[in-house]
Amino acid sequence: MGRFTCSYAPPMSFPDGFVWGAATSAYQIEGGRHEGGKGESIWDRFSDLGRIEVSGDTACDHFHRYAEDVDLMADLGIDAYRFSIAWTRVLPDGTGRVNQKGLDFYKRLVDPLLENDITPFATLYHWDLPQVLEDAGGWPARATVDAFVEYADVTTAALGDRIKHWTTHNEPWVSAYMGYLEGEFAPGKTGWTEAVAASHHLLLSHGRAMPAIRANVAGGSAGIVLDCRHSYPASDRPEDVDANRHFDGFRNRWFFDPVFGRGYPTDIWESFDLQNRIRPGLVQPGDIDEIATPNDFLGLNFYTSLPISAGNEETEDSGVPPSPNPPPDYTEMGWPIVPEALTQFLVRLQEEYDPPAIYITENGASFSDGPDAQGVVDDQRRIDYLDAHFRAAVEAIDRGVKLNGYFVWSLMDNLEWASGFSQRFGLVWVDHATGERIPKRSFGWYRNFLRAA
Ligand code: FCB
Repeated sequence: MGRFTCSYAPPMSFPDGFVWGAATSAYQIEGGRHEGGKGESIWDRFSDLGRIEVSGDTACDHFHRYAEDVDLMADLGIDAYRFSIAWTRVLPDGTGRVNQKGLDFYKRLVDPLLENDITPFATLYHWDLPQVLEDAGGWPARATVDAFVEYADVTTAALGDRIKHWTTHNEPWVSAYMGYLEGEFAPGKTGWTEAVAASHHLLLSHGRAMPAIRANVAGGSAGIVLDCRHSYPASDRPEDVDANRHFDGFRNRWFFDPVFGRGYPTDIWESFDLQNRIRPGLVQPGDIDEIATPNDFLGLNFYTSLPISAGNEETEDSGVPPSPNPPPDYTEMGWPIVPEALTQFLVRLQEEYDPPAIYITENGASFSDGPDAQGVVDDQRRIDYLDAHFRAAVEAIDRGVKLNGYFVWSLMDNLEWASGFSQRFGLVWVDHATGERIPKRSFGWYRNFLRAA
């Protein structure tokens, strides 16, 4: 264990070789909607329909400014960069015709990363399904599984020489439930059977794509990124305890259990089944085994922890007003700041599921602090958030969690989905009118931290 001193607080110790990074996703930063032969995605359509505050047609204009962004990363001194590939750049029609210009864009991005010793970690699917596949039924349709496997195969065959670390999906809970149940995210559908079918097909497509990825990427590693919502009963009342168990099942176990070979959790399956949320014949023989294809690592996205009370077991809104009890602080997303929940969730993951390795693939905070008259962005609250969560990660490692790395969300302010540009998670401020980038104080803090590491 190497020990080092961070300039703002007592030392933290992380294992040698620990991977420090920053993360982004294609729709949130790329723009270049009509360039390089890109096809239409469900988020392009969603924005055309006026379903989000601002469109991602330009976003952070990373499609044109990627070289400047790589320079920022090199200056920051990160070991690794997590980004996603837009399916519609590689296969504009969802399947079939391969768009070489799309693949070339990612080569142009990755080559300077490698020259700067920044290891690329690519996500194949960060929510941007080709619209043509949505028109054919989207994730609720089983055919989308094979379309994804084709996309994963084509992409890793073309880029697997230079990108060695791959994840299939980012946060399938969000794709399935925000997209097909709550309708707040693309494609904006609202039906239980569709959402449950989507969740099953997302997981199945993960397991089915893994062998193709492994075959194409010599000496690489592959896995999936799951998000979690740490939660706790809002009171000792049995109804709240039950509600919390259901929330955890719906939000966490429904994904973690099958990925780690336990099949779907019985309590949630029975509850869904009773309410006719599971389409007959949805799960076919062999599916559960395919979903459980072993991963080289698990990516975990962690942001917050919520109190759950009866009646709120299937919503993100806990229904509990901010209370005098901890947690006292919230980010501008309205998410309570509870670093110790990160330790608890990591320890639980290791004890219950025993993944071979874990990366925190996203963690960060939305605070809108902008440049002052001198152009300085003083985002001390983000520094405090990250410092506390880094320490929570150390605590987890000390308790036996096999944590290999940590990616801060996000490298730069970007298009925060339905919230548009109003939520800022970046280490780098982005002026969304001009595209100008200004590293925030948290960027300097992270850079010092990495230099000392
Ligand atoms: C995660 C998403 C990421 C970003 C953060 C704030 O759920 O994966 O794209 O929106 O939340």
